[in-house]
Amino acid sequence: MRHLMSPLDFTTEELERLFDLANDIEQNPRKYDHACDGKILATCFYEPSTRTRLSFESAMTRLGGRIIGFSDAASSSASKGESVSDTIRIISCYSDICAMRHPKEGAPMVAAEKSGIPVINAGDGGHQHPTQTLTDLLTIRSMKGKLDNFTIGLCGDLKFGRTVHSLINALVRYQNIRFIFISPEELKVPDYITDMLREKNIPYEEVIRLEDVMPHLDILYMTRVQKERFFNEEDYVRLKDFYILDTVKMALAKKDMLVLHPLPRVNEISVEVDKDPRAAYFKQAKYGVYVRMALILTLLESAQ
Ligand code: CP
Repeated sequence: MRHLMSPLDFTTEELERLFDLANDIEQNPRKYDHACDGKILATCFYEPSTRTRLSFESAMTRLGGRIIGFSDAASSSASKGESVSDTIRIISCYSDICAMRHPKEGAPMVAAEKSGIPVINAGDGGHQHPTQTLTDLLTIRSMKGKLDNFTIGLCGDLKFGRTVHSLINALVRYQNIRFIFISPEELKVPDYITDMLREKNIPYEEVIRLEDVMPHLDILYMTRVQKERFFNEEDYVRLKDFYILDTVKMALAKKDMLVLHPLPRVNEISVEVDKDPRAAYFKQAKYGVYVRMALILTLLESAQ
């Protein structure tokens, strides 16, 4: 039985198979209508979510399965002091697979150790968000036709943004990827990531001004400033509008640059950019359903 805690839990060959399956689901959705008949997905969300929870629920429903779960720790027995380990032992009695989001880093891993069913990390604190990374990779592969040979700019909150940390970890396994990290000093990518890039000899640069690097990017990955991870409101207010991608900045970019964003967006992408054909973030959300359908099928098969 397999779990998904990090994008690195799958080899690049396994990811290729997963993405092929996701693309087949996209092309032939009816073929999968009953693929999970009789199966139950539990969504255990101790932190707020729109996309991740609902795309998992949509994915399982589209596969013919059913869903149970909670969307708020306050409505679960966590509010009475139940541990994640005990909760997952109970959830294992009620369902066949579980997607868990938790504010504490490592909590889904603790759950996986005690679980009788596959557990998917649906985001743990500022650490990892592997299914967002699968979504991002599938979007890039589907829209660019490849997962190598490009320069990607990651912009915004690179310190707390778990989607950024997961995506960098995943992309280092592909050929000729160059990173440009665009952030204010206070929100720079953590040292453990830049240490890893230096160790692997993967080129990266850190800059503050988005305008300066726009013409060099093949992909721009925008992120919001993660209000919920700040210790004081004053710092958040000072940094929250540091970057706003607008049509003026888009005019500096390559004609085929892709703009991705895990969403939710706050102010960091002006709504006028949504009309630009390079804005791929709403398509990206749709790919999130296909890749989660493929993931559910793959992990359930591992549990048979
Ligand atoms: N991208 C993402 O994780 O969005 P939600 O927080 O709405 O799930």
